[in-house]
Amino acid sequence: MLHNNTIKNLKLDACYIRTFLKNGEDIIQKFNQLKLDGANVTVPHKENAYLLCDETRGISKDIGAVNTLVKEKGKIIGCNTDAPGFFESIKSFKNIKSALVLGAGGTAKAIAFILRKNGIVPTILNRSSKRLIFFKENNFKSFCWDNFTKERYDLVINTTSAGLKDENLPLEKNLLNNIMQNSNYAFDVIYGKSTPFIRLAHSNKLKTKDGSQMLINQAVFAFNLFYQNRFDTKVIESYMGKASFL
Ligand SMILES: NC(=O)c1ccc[n+]([C@@H]2O[C@H](COP(=O)([O-])OP(=O)(O)OC[C@H]3O[C@@H](n4cnc5c(N)ncnc54)[C@H](OP(=O)(O)O)[C@@H]3O)[C@@H](O)[C@H]2O)c1
Repeated sequence: MLHNNTIKNLKLDACYIRTFLKNGEDIIQKFNQLKLDGANVTVPHKENAYLLCDETRGISKDIGAVNTLVKEKGKIIGCNTDAPGFFESIKSFKNIKSALVLGAGGTAKAIAFILRKNGIVPTILNRSSKRLIFFKENNFKSFCWDNFTKERYDLVINTTSAGLKDENLPLEKNLLNNIMQNSNYAFDVIYGKSTPFIRLAHSNKLKTKDGSQMLINQAVFAFNLFYQNRFDTKVIESYMGKASFL
């Protein structure tokens, strides 16, 4: 809806469709078979897309995952717009120097790298240890629940799916409450609902944001990649912001 609403308003000869990819290994074959000029890739195929496209650009090289594919002179180029999409959406948060990132999945990787690139020190905290290997290898301060020692963080970010289809918090309530009491901002990547994480942040009087602006921003950046940056991002955003599901 975000893309098709924009395509319609800009009177472009295109359409944005959904296709189910059973096997991530087949992503390039599928792209070619459908004769696509561009695509977005979602969970769980972002890592495979990164490995299989002809060329990768920008911060995707650090993250190891792409959510956007674009055909350029016969080659398939992979980019990551989740990371700048997230960062754009926290620009109204001022004086952030440190952040606690809850979760260690693909979204946490994108957020950790874009924070570091912009001079904000991220600490990663995950329920279990396996996914932390990537973060340790990339020199991020990272903990699992069992070995965590808390500090003060300006911003707390939920990148887990806790609260998406349940009423779970991404961290033990007393500990999260304690962290929030000393923070200024909270961000939840989940959008379209009031999560327990956001409600706890409100009760601690933090300034909050959910993932809806991040969703729009990653789509705006992807749309512009599809069209070689031909359009003003503000114009794209205005059409995307009016897409009816939001
Ligand atoms: N707003 C946007 O534009 C946007 C963009 C991308 C993704 N998202 C959202 O981001 C979320 C995460 O996506 P992802 O691709 O990063 O997922 P993922 O790769 O599957 O990672 C999920 C992470 O969440 C942790 N986790 C899951 N359930 C938990 C719970 N009940 N308590 C504590 N930790 C829990 C996992 O910990 P373990 O390692 O211990 O299993 C893991 O670190 C999804 O809700 C997705 O919809 C939003």
